[in-house]
Amino acid sequence: MQLGVNIDHIAVLREARKIADPDPLDALSICKRAGADQITLHLREDRRHMQDNDVRNIIKLSSLPINLECAISPEMIDIACELNPHRVTLVPEKREEVTTEGGLHVSGEQPALKEAIKRLQNKEIEVSLFIDPTLDAVKTSLDLDVAWIEFHTGKYANIYAMLYSNVSKTHHSITELELPRKILKQMLDDELRNLRLLSCDAMEFGLRVAAGHGLNMQNVSNIVEIETIEELNIGQSIIARSIYVGLEQAILDMKAKLIR
Ligand code: PXP
Repeated sequence: MQLGVNIDHIAVLREARKIADPDPLDALSICKRAGADQITLHLREDRRHMQDNDVRNIIKLSSLPINLECAISPEMIDIACELNPHRVTLVPEKREEVTTEGGLHVSGEQPALKEAIKRLQNKEIEVSLFIDPTLDAVKTSLDLDVAWIEFHTGKYANIYAMLYSNVSKTHHSITELELPRKILKQMLDDELRNLRLLSCDAMEFGLRVAAGHGLNMQNVSNIVEIETIEELNIGQSIIARSIYVGLEQAILDMKAKLIR
């Protein structure tokens, strides 16, 4: 399974101080050495993390394919068309959100979305849509004639965290916790089943399937088992672990988890 390393969080750290380091550009050779298959980065409309120059230099200097995430605004599509990354993943953007909290509302944004896709495809840039795992979103993506979809795995990751975070470890025998745990387990199984079925449908429709958001060393294995998902884009957990084990090791460890 392919791994796209989302390096936005290096820019998050830099922008916390508004200084020059850490520079996301320095991650390129480490990602390559550690076996990453792709670099993923997000140019936000408010430039709160990656800056235009980061994106420009990374696209120019990376020997790995670049997956640029951006909103469907004409300004962002102008930049993407000019910089010509390997792939553009269109994502929803809200100023007030901390991170990308859900998938694109594909049916509600049709005219703007169609226009953005057409412009990118005219430049021969591969297009992916970051969508919630629903049949409606998969079918709409098919109608929109994109090559890739990326399922937002945030709901799965949240349920997993509620179920397996250590908080209730010492309270396992308390009966009131049994029912919520049972329900959470059912919710997790349902979410995984949903992702599996939709990935299968999408592949049969001819779409290529990626997934990402909130995945980490613990929760990723269930997703790896879904054979129809070709690629995962993972950022926060890799960069967080890299503080303790180094970026190269953090990527190597995640790559090892992705072996099927
Ligand atoms: N894929 C997309 C489209 C994203 O926007 C993000 C960041 O929100 C990710 C993957 C990676 O998510 P995370 O940083 O939680 O691993």
